[in-house]
Amino acid sequence: MAWDEPSRFLLLCCVAFTLFGVSQFVKSYNLRAKLAHIPTVGHPDWLSSYLTVFRYMRDPIGICQEGYTKFQGRPYKIPTMNGWQVVISDNTMIDEFRKFPDEMLSIREGVEHFLHFSYTVSPDLLRNPYHIGVVRNALTRNIPACYADLYDEITMAVKDQIPLETDWVEVYAFRIIVDILARSSNRILVGYPLCRNTDYLDLAKAFANTVIKNARSLHMFPEILHPIVGQIFSARRRSLRRIMKHLKPILEERIQMHNKYGKDWPEKPNDYLSWLLDDPHAQDWQRFSMPDLSMRMLHANFASIHTTSTFTHILYQLAAHPDLLQPLRVEKYGWTKVAMKEMHFMDSFMKEASRLTGISLSLLAVSCTNFSFSDGTTVPAGTVICLGSFSTHHDEEIYPSSEKFEPSRFLDKRAREGEGHRHGMAVPATDWLLFGSGRHACPGRFFAVTALKTLLAHIILNYDVKMKDDGGVPPSTVFAGNVAPNVTAKVMFRKREM
Ligand code: HEM
Repeated sequence: MAWDEPSRFLLLCCVAFTLFGVSQFVKSYNLRAKLAHIPTVGHPDWLSSYLTVFRYMRDPIGICQEGYTKFQGRPYKIPTMNGWQVVISDNTMIDEFRKFPDEMLSIREGVEHFLHFSYTVSPDLLRNPYHIGVVRNALTRNIPACYADLYDEITMAVKDQIPLETDWVEVYAFRIIVDILARSSNRILVGYPLCRNTDYLDLAKAFANTVIKNARSLHMFPEILHPIVGQIFSARRRSLRRIMKHLKPILEERIQMHNKYGKDWPEKPNDYLSWLLDDPHAQDWQRFSMPDLSMRMLHANFASIHTTSTFTHILYQLAAHPDLLQPLRVEKYGWTKVAMKEMHFMDSFMKEASRLTGISLSLLAVSCTNFSFSDGTTVPAGTVICLGSFSTHHDEEIYPSSEKFEPSRFLDKRAREGEGHRHGMAVPATDWLLFGSGRHACPGRFFAVTALKTLLAHIILNYDVKMKDDGGVPPSTVFAGNVAPNVTAKVMFRKREM
């Protein structure tokens, strides 16, 4: 019997599907056997564990809290669409986790596992991540020098996005925050006027979603097919072509000036693009390479997406507690980086808002060798480990009345325990995991906190803010195991009355 075209395609699909099922089963079976000593949340058997996978997709926080309470801070494992994941939330283990060297526990492998970074972003950024050093050092060092530009862009963007009316106006919070922060961050990433170019900003905003969507598609296929499907289900080439159209003339001019004058030339822009161009850690072929530099610019936009979610959570808490506007306004303001550092109540308010409604799990890493934690828990090579940040941030022993929003929680800690610096929002600790932990804690955190404080201070000093009908914080959006702030809620603004 001759097979017609559709039947052949159907047969191919069935074979591919069966192969996928078998490979997933074997992989999951082997890993499950090796992790048998670590307790499981939900159903432990191969087939029934998929019930927990579906529950996890709808309710990741519920699953993590169940594991944390049931196993009293000991590590536990959860089944996810992407395989088994071991979650640790205990302070001592988190401390050990952050101290393990990269040869034992690899964050890079974690990024690859979770985002399929080589296909969705670029393998070159993983091989030589010199941009991380540029964020950690040049960006952080230049905050005072770039602060006036950041403040200028924030005030202009707020003016364009939030009407300054005497009557209340309703605004889609998430949408305007995305626009304001994309524009303000890009003032420091690439400078004016590109930071206000609509096509460039649309691309920068869309890239983060593109990466996450593409990674999700790749999760559906066995690893062996990734080199093929990675080309099909990835929009990185399209995004790269589009961003290069904007960056090419800027890069050409800067390279020309560099060749003429060397590293320093008159009117040289002081921005992330210049710092990338100047960094000595780029390999020879990367230096002045349009595609490589453009990809690192796209990545910087991707890395700063957390800023949007964090600020949305903060704004919702403010709008749900308008009585805090006045005490926050009383704090002494000034538009410099140093003045920002002194706003302790605002820092405490922002940190508390992020603690209460922020992230669920963070800092995925993959073990490269077999090793043990000090409590005796052994972890075989190839295990995905992550921090149960939500559970730590809601632990009653660390944060008494943890379900209550206490805006001065960290201000009081500063007063009680002295160590002012330790309780700042940008300072990671085993009980403060918003920015991750250890060597791989977010290198952009000082810039992020400065930008968020400036934006919040500017809003507070110019607007009254509340939720419609005096409502509370809108429920978070949970999608496929990720928890994000509500993306459709509206917040009300009017010109400040008092
Ligand atoms: C409130 C805003 C931000 C939060 C909450 C945040 C959080 C994090 C976290 C938790 C990580 C660790 C890896 C992970 O689990 O995903 C991370 C890594 C990173 N972040 Fe941020 N981030 C923020 C803003 C920024 C900004 C503004 C930049 C740069 C412009 C940035 C650049 C990076 C980079 C380059 C890494 C990778 C570090 C590495 O792999 O060693 N982040 N961030």
